Parts: sequence; structure tokens; C-alpha cells
Amino acid sequence: MHIQRVAVIGAGTMGNGIAHVFALGGIDVALVDVSDEAVEAGVTMIRKNLGRQVDKDVISQAEAGEALDLIHTSTDLEKTVSNVDLVVEAVSERAEVKADVFRSIDAAAPPDAILASNTSSISITWIAAQTQRPSNVIGMHFFNPVPVMKLVEIVRGLETSDAVFNTVRSLSERLGKSPVEVSDYPGFVSNRVLMPMINEAVYCVMEGVASVEDIDHVMKLGMAHPMGPLNLADFIGLDVCLSIMEVLHTQLGDDKYRPCPLLRKMVTAGRLGRKSGHGFYTYN
Ligand code: CAA
Repeated sequence: MHIQRVAVIGAGTMGNGIAHVFALGGIDVALVDVSDEAVEAGVTMIRKNLGRQVDKDVISQAEAGEALDLIHTSTDLEKTVSNVDLVVEAVSERAEVKADVFRSIDAAAPPDAILASNTSSISITWIAAQTQRPSNVIGMHFFNPVPVMKLVEIVRGLETSDAVFNTVRSLSERLGKSPVEVSDYPGFVSNRVLMPMINEAVYCVMEGVASVEDIDHVMKLGMAHPMGPLNLADFIGLDVCLSIMEVLHTQLGDDKYRPCPLLRKMVTAGRLGRKSGHGFYTYN
């Protein structure tokens, strides 16, 4: 199947980044959210990030303009998905919210359309089971910032067909990404490995092993990570980190995945990282 028209549901950081790379890949993309303000904020961010790429000579001004011309916005989910080949869901990381969105998309999208989720930890097999077309449901897990990070984790649910997997893999390559095939297990590969590291860094803060800055310094200069784990946790969102640790802990059942009490306390206090202006660091 050749993908020509795509709808991205959710215009937040991940959704607008995903729409950005589809449009740069020459694909017509509709960005959908619940309010005009939300979709407009998404397009403003895409414009800003395309501008950043123009400034860095990654793309030309003309390419940025062509990409913007391919992006449409909508607040009418059912109508928008009724004539697309692929829907990529990037709404908030709450299972019931995703289930509702998938039921609506499933009812309105063409029968052969592929339904993908950008979930970072919710089971694709479970999401697929909310629909009448489980063989057409797949995980397309992008990484923030989407225009920069090369990886797409393609997650196969239990029922995902080979044809759907092959279509999504070639599409990811067409977008200039480097896809990896992953089976549907909690946290997939990325967050099964990344989140316990972040969680352990939070334990180091809680136990006073070193300061926040020094823990990040160790991982940046000792392990050549582009960002320290605490800075990265702020970047991802501490609420997202906590919810992924909870999925790992509940579904894998091992105490090694227990969320650090300090992480839980910070989320309870509303210190969510960059998006709230305060996490392990303070932001303007
Ligand atoms: N759109 C377009 N370009 C962007 C961008 C965006 N949103 N954000 C950054 N860039 C570009 C910059 O223009 C810059 O380009 P050049 O290399 O051509 O100069 C480049 O990316 C680097 O950016 P900066 O110079 O601003 O800053 P930096 O060198 O500190 O890099 C970073 C920023 C790319 C975010 C880097 O710190 C990094 O790679 N950090 C790790 C990010 C990471 O691990 N992401 C995954 C998070 S996990 C996740 O997303 C999934 C999940 O399930 C939780």
C-alpha cells in the first residue's frame, strides 16, 4: 500500500513533530486536535522548527514552504480520517483516552486504512483489541525532537499483519528514519532500557549520592550521552516517566521497576519538567 494521505491526531510536541516529518517527506497531512487553539499552536511550532532547519541549512526555504503547504488542520476527527490511508495517534498517554480515540477512528476511517499509535508504553495488542481491524493496527513510536531523532520503533501487536508492518517500515524509511522492529512487550525496547536508567538517577538524587548537575555531568562526560538523565527526564516530562515506570512495574511485576518515591512526589507537586517550568531544573 502506498501511503499518500495521513491524519495525525494530537498537535502536542509529538504530534506536531510527526506531522512535520510527514510533510517534509512530501505527504499530505491533516493535524487534528480538539480545539482551534491547540491545532494553531501545533502549526506555529512546526513553522518554528522548519525555520530552525532552514537556518541550519538542513532544508531550503522552498522545501519548508512546500512542507507547510501540505499541512492542513482540523478539529473534526471523524471527517478528517474518513479519506486517509494512515492515521497516527499521538494523544495523551492515558489508556482510556487512547481507547476512545481508536474506537472513533476505527468507526470513521476507510476499512483498509492503517491505524498507528505513537504510544511509548501502552500495549499495541490492547489498543488493537479496541478496534474491529486488529491486523491493521501497529505502533509507530517516534522520539522527541521528532525532526532530529532518526529512530522509529515499529511495534507489532499480536495480530499486526506482515503487509501492514512492511508498509509502515517502508514509509518510515521514506521519511528518512531508521526503523527497528520490536515485539509488543511493556516499554518496547526504548523505554524498557531508558526509563530504569532515569529512575535510578532519581534514586541517586533521593539518596544524596551526588547533586542533580553532577549526576547529569557523569552521564554526559563519562558515557557521552547528549543530555544527562535528569535533564532528559525534564525534557520528556516527569509525569510521562512515572507513568511508563508504572507500566513496567505493573506488567513485568519485578521490584527493579518500582518508581522512585521522589519521582512520584515531584509529579504530585506538579513539578513535571520543562512543560511546567520546574523539574530537576528550573526553566523560564
Ligand atoms: N526541530 C528541528 N530541529 C531541531 C529541533 C526541533 N524540534 N530541536 C533541535 N533541533 C536541531 C537544532 O537546530 C540543531 O541542529 P544542528 O545540529 O544542525 O545545529 C540540533 O537539533 C541540535 O540542537 P541544539 O543545538 O539546539 O541543542 P543540542 O545540541 O543540545 O541538541 C537535542 C538538542 C537534539 C535535543 C540533544 O540534546 C539530544 O539529542 N538529546 C537527547 C534527546 C532524546 O534522548 N530524545 C528521546 C527522548 S525519549 C522519547 O522521545 C520517547 C519516549 O517514549 C519517552
